Amino acid sequence: MNLILLGPPGAGKGTQADLLRKRFGWLHISTGDILRRALRMGNPIARQAQTQMDRGELVSDEVVLSLVESRLKEPDAAGGYILDGFPRTSAQAQGLEAALHRLGKQIDMVLYLDISAPMVLSRLLGRRVCPNCEANFHVVNRPSVDDKRCDRCGTLLVQRDDDQPETVQRRLKIYNEQTEGLIDYYRSRELLIRIIADRPIDSLHEDIASIFHQRKLA
Ligand code: AP5
Repeated sequence: MNLILLGPPGAGKGTQADLLRKRFGWLHISTGDILRRALRMGNPIARQAQTQMDRGELVSDEVVLSLVESRLKEPDAAGGYILDGFPRTSAQAQGLEAALHRLGKQIDMVLYLDISAPMVLSRLLGRRVCPNCEANFHVVNRPSVDDKRCDRCGTLLVQRDDDQPETVQRRLKIYNEQTEGLIDYYRSRELLIRIIADRPIDSLHEDIASIFHQRKLA
C-alpha cells in the first residue's frame, strides 16, 4: 500500500500515520519530521529552511522533493509507505509523480482527512510533543500519563514553535492557498477518498483500516 495522507495542519495525519505504521508495517514518511530531525542534527539545508518552518511557511519544493525522493529509494520503502504532509503544492505533486515514475512506484490512494478550522485550532494549541522520541500528545484528547513527561521515554514534553496561535493561523491560510487544490487534483485522478476526521482517534483509525480492507489494499 502506497498512501498519501492529505489534510490541513492538525487534521491528525501524523497520529493516523503512526497507527497505520504500527498495524500494517508501512513506512511513515513525514516531511515535517524529516525537516525537524535534520535541523536537530545541524544539517545546513534544514538550517536554511528553519525560518520558513518557524513562520509556518512552506519550505522550497526543491528541498522537500529531494528529501522525499531519497527516502523513497531506501529499501524499507519497498513494503509500502505513507506520505504525511507531502505533497503540499501542485509542483510537489507533479515532482512526486515524476520521482515515482523513475523509481517504478505508484500511489494507491490519497486519503483526505476533512476537518473544520476551529477543530484544527484546538488540536494544535493543545498538542505536546516529545523532543526526544517524537511521540505526540494532546493536553485534553490524548494526555500523557503524568501530564508533563513522555510516556515512552520520560523526556519533558514541549509545544512546537509553530503551534502558537498566530503561526497556526498562517499555516491554515497557506494550506487553503497552496495545498487545498490537491483535493481536486487527486479526485480527478480517481485516487481521493474523503473521510471526516472530527472524531476520536481510535474510531477514525478503525474506519480507515476498514476502507483499506474493503479495497483489498491491506
Ligand atoms: P508538519 O509537521 O507536516 O505540520 P502540518 O502538516 O502542519 O501537520 P501537523 O503535524 O501540524 O498536523 P497533523 O495533521 O500531523 O496532526 P497530528 O496528528 O499531529 O510541517 C511543519 C512545517 O514543516 C511546515 O509548516 C513547513 O514549514 C515544513 N514542511 C513540512 N512538509 C512540507 C512540505 N511538503 N512542503 C513544504 N514545507 C513543508 O495531531 C494534532 C494534535 O491533535 C495532536 O495533539 C494529536 O494528539 C491530536 N489529535 C490527532 N487526531 C485526533 C483525533 N482524531 N481526535 C482528537 N485529537 C486528535
